Amino acid sequence: MAFDSGVDIVLYHLETVDSTNAYAKANIARLPDGTLVTAGCQTAGRGRMGRCWVSPAGRNFYGSLVMKRLERPLAGTMAISLGALLALRKLAPSLPVWLKWPNDLYVGEAKLAGVLSETVAMADGRRAVIAGIGVNLNLTAAELSAIDRPATSVLATAGVEINPDFFASVLAESVKSYYSIGIYSEVALFSQWRAANRIVGLEIELEVGGSVIRGVAAGIADDGALLIRDASGKEKPYYCGDATIRRTSLQNLAKILQNDNH
Ligand code: BTN
Repeated sequence: MAFDSGVDIVLYHLETVDSTNAYAKANIARLPDGTLVTAGCQTAGRGRMGRCWVSPAGRNFYGSLVMKRLERPLAGTMAISLGALLALRKLAPSLPVWLKWPNDLYVGEAKLAGVLSETVAMADGRRAVIAGIGVNLNLTAAELSAIDRPATSVLATAGVEINPDFFASVLAESVKSYYSIGIYSEVALFSQWRAANRIVGLEIELEVGGSVIRGVAAGIADDGALLIRDASGKEKPYYCGDATIRRTSLQNLAKILQNDNH
């Protein structure tokens, strides 16, 4: 199924760095295409919307994939998210992990991983995509409770401890085919990402620009926007925001995920 476009994913490990995304951007000229920059810990891990990303040493995975043959941040998000989903399914098959539009991996109603995709200009004027991902692997319940939003880890939900270096090698293998597909056809990558997203059909609240939109996630449009249907039946596209699943919908999601795993 994978299209072999000659992509090689090469691991480049740093013990400590401010942020793997910042490092990849600053060193774009010398990092080969397909480099997965990983770190033991980050001193200034960055999340979306200016948030910080909790990055203690040796407990989680922090990495940024350099993709010089993609141009749109969304394409990078799709490749790394699908790669991480596959890696987690290989390493912790019982984990009911799901992809939540636009940038997250969730277990139940808690965040397991987040993606920050950025672009950087190269010397020839083209742009490269840097897709950063943080995956909570071994944070304990006490460590998770110190995070200001509902968060979980593989250890806390599946009871499985995963070495971050081992996760890096499995992710490198898993993301390779998705990066190849993206190079070959962003449309093909998009259709896999859209199919893997489990938000569609759920009742949600979307926090965007200081207001909250309530409705049903009716679908994901071809340009990546989330379509939300309000109580009057009107659908509108949204391009970013924090989606919270309404309690009533979580049980439906649990059933969908159970079917996924069988
Ligand atoms: C989010 O959910 O807000 C995105 C979090 C992205 C965190 C990762 S960790 C590796 C990479 N380096 C960073 O500084 N951020 C991303």
